Amino acid sequence: MTSFTCSPGEKVSGTIRVPGDKSISHRSIILSSIATGVSHISGFLQGEDSLNTIRAFQQMGVEIERQQDRVCVKGAGLHGLTASATDLEMGNSGTAMRLMLGLLAGQSFDSRMVGDESLSSRPMLRVIEPLQAMGASIASEPGGRAPLQVRASPGLKAIEYDMPVASAQVKSCLLLAGLYADGETVVREPAPTRDHSERMLRAYGCEVTSVDREIRMPAGQQLSACDVEVPADISSAAFFMVAASIASGSDITLQHVGVNPTRTGVIDILKLMGADLELLDQRDVGGEPVADIRVRSAPLSGIDIPVELVALAIDEFPVLFIAAACAQGTTRLSEAEELRVKESDRIQAMADGLTQLGVTTQVNADGIVIEGGLMGGGTVDSHGDHRIAMAFSVASLCAQQVICIKDCANVNTSFPGFADLAQQAGINIRIGD
Ligand code: S3P
Repeated sequence: MTSFTCSPGEKVSGTIRVPGDKSISHRSIILSSIATGVSHISGFLQGEDSLNTIRAFQQMGVEIERQQDRVCVKGAGLHGLTASATDLEMGNSGTAMRLMLGLLAGQSFDSRMVGDESLSSRPMLRVIEPLQAMGASIASEPGGRAPLQVRASPGLKAIEYDMPVASAQVKSCLLLAGLYADGETVVREPAPTRDHSERMLRAYGCEVTSVDREIRMPAGQQLSACDVEVPADISSAAFFMVAASIASGSDITLQHVGVNPTRTGVIDILKLMGADLELLDQRDVGGEPVADIRVRSAPLSGIDIPVELVALAIDEFPVLFIAAACAQGTTRLSEAEELRVKESDRIQAMADGLTQLGVTTQVNADGIVIEGGLMGGGTVDSHGDHRIAMAFSVASLCAQQVICIKDCANVNTSFPGFADLAQQAGINIRIGD
């Protein structure tokens, strides 16, 4: 079992580029596979999650060639996928399973999707139920868990759906199913969520409108191949934003980071805490805003995290909790119950790890209260959750003793090469078994 041993560090510095955005990488393969024509993708995330998505489409007959972060997809067209002879392995990825369930629900063949232990315990009813309302035939394990068996559909009915949770995965799943439905698909979200699917569908020639959190997509759309340049993942960059903020004397520049406004909650929250972050050379790359981000250390203060920023920073809370533990004063997070159904229960797993390091926390059903102060050392369990493993690696910069982090292999799902890049930037991290 891979572990990280992290010794107290001093500062982080340099200019680095973190790997490609996971959400955009998954979507680029999905849309390219059902488009007509050849799509070229650059900056693709070579992590286990997105590589599984490539494999799944290859199993369904799509010609995909990859050389490092460059991928060439020969689209099969909307109705050109074929049945896979074996199960589709989604590994650790909720995004892949939920988005692909929407796509598979509209196919004229059966499919079966499986995942690892974490993914097999995550809630899938949030996508199964609206898809069933569209006429999809899906069987699951009790409680709507994977493996998921999808039966060939004779055609889906378009629906209007008010999402009970603010989830880009649910929205994207329904838009993908909507490509195979008989009328206009309408999805309303209770709070803004990442809009990469809408942006990318438009780039592939689809008509999708989005007004006041209501997304509409007419029936009968075709997708045309498109070249995609995947920006660096703000969720991976976030580890270095917090690292540079908490380690005095730090000055780091993160290159070519995606700064889509539905993803920048982490920047807003850190700024509210007093962080010194500067967005440089803001530009548009293929319909997605991108910038270089310079971060210099600054004293952080605890805050009440504004609830409207929760969905916009949903993946960054593990490392934001580390910022809170290193800040002066109390940080309170509420209305974040979604964190309990991510790759792990991120509220409990982070609270347990912080407690091991001597940080005072109070766990609530929908959030956490963290008292900033001194951090000791100790052994923490990442519960196989990539973002928890990386968050505690960052914590070592301010810890008084060594932090050992257990069960870190899944860092490769989203951030291959994390330990090397972190080491290069100034985090003292050693990989062990
Ligand atoms: C994602 C959406 C988010 C996020 C996940 C990626 C996506 O999940 O946590 O890591 O690519 O659509 P929810 O939409 O369920 O909040």
